Amino acid sequence: MAALTADYDREILKILGSRIDSLVNDDAAAAHEPDKEVADDGDDDIRALDILSLTVASSQREGRPLRLVETFSTIKSLIFAGHDTTATLMSWVCYLLGTHLSIEEKVLKEIDSVLGSRTEPTLADLSALTHLGDVIKEALRLFPAAGSARIGPKGAKLCGYDVENVIVYVAPFVIHRVPSLWGADADVFRPERWSDDQINPDHFVPFSRGRADCLGQKFALLEGKTILATVYRQFVFRPVKEIRAKRALTLIPGEDCEMRVMKRS
Ligand code: HEM
Repeated sequence: MAALTADYDREILKILGSRIDSLVNDDAAAAHEPDKEVADDGDDDIRALDILSLTVASSQREGRPLRLVETFSTIKSLIFAGHDTTATLMSWVCYLLGTHLSIEEKVLKEIDSVLGSRTEPTLADLSALTHLGDVIKEALRLFPAAGSARIGPKGAKLCGYDVENVIVYVAPFVIHRVPSLWGADADVFRPERWSDDQINPDHFVPFSRGRADCLGQKFALLEGKTILATVYRQFVFRPVKEIRAKRALTLIPGEDCEMRVMKRS
């Protein structure tokens, strides 16, 4: 398998960027045509619409129709905020499963039994893939793709320090590995903790918390399950070497994430 290098990643992002430019431009222009009514008469119709039409429809419903340039930038933010983060998460899950074979075996058993003869999961399958869900959360705990930052408001203090106008970084990578929050095995990949232990939601912050938390967090978990169930139905991955995390725009594998892809028998 070709190694997924940083250069390769950059090349993909460049291609993706220009594809998005042309696709979103054409479709956004079409969705904004003056005589085009976007169906939005109830939940059933909404379910059938794509994200672009939903964005235009909801702004029409709220009485402040988006200008073309606003629709364009909303769609681009969704794609860019969701692409690298989810791709990084997928790399870490494949790496962790490839280095923890008993956990991988449990995941494969679950996927096979839930999907039966299907090669791709249905929406109902996704809720039944509970162990896979725990694996994704555990990978997000050990290798949270993103962090967040806030500027301290007027008079703000944090642990006795004056942080007014100071940029405060929130580092989930650190919070997620504190033994007093997660136990003595905080550094261990143990998906069972999500079903066995009482997890305090304030200790798990890969999507941040509060008013400006990640808009796509539920979508990211569904998307992750869909990708992993589809891929692991047919293939498994074996890392070629040990990989450590490196902080870039997201928390990426520090070296080329070389994996052997093996077709399942
Ligand atoms: C594993 C996947 C993902 C992770 C770890 C992640 C993490 C985050 C984090 C930490 C923030 C910053 C929140 C803050 O500053 O408090 C954020 C913001 C955001 N995310 Fe995600 N994200 C993921 C996937 C997605 C997906 C799939 C989408 C869209 C479909 C998305 C859309 C957004 C948007 C629009 C924001 C900005 C929210 C705002 O400023 O109000 N994210 N994400």
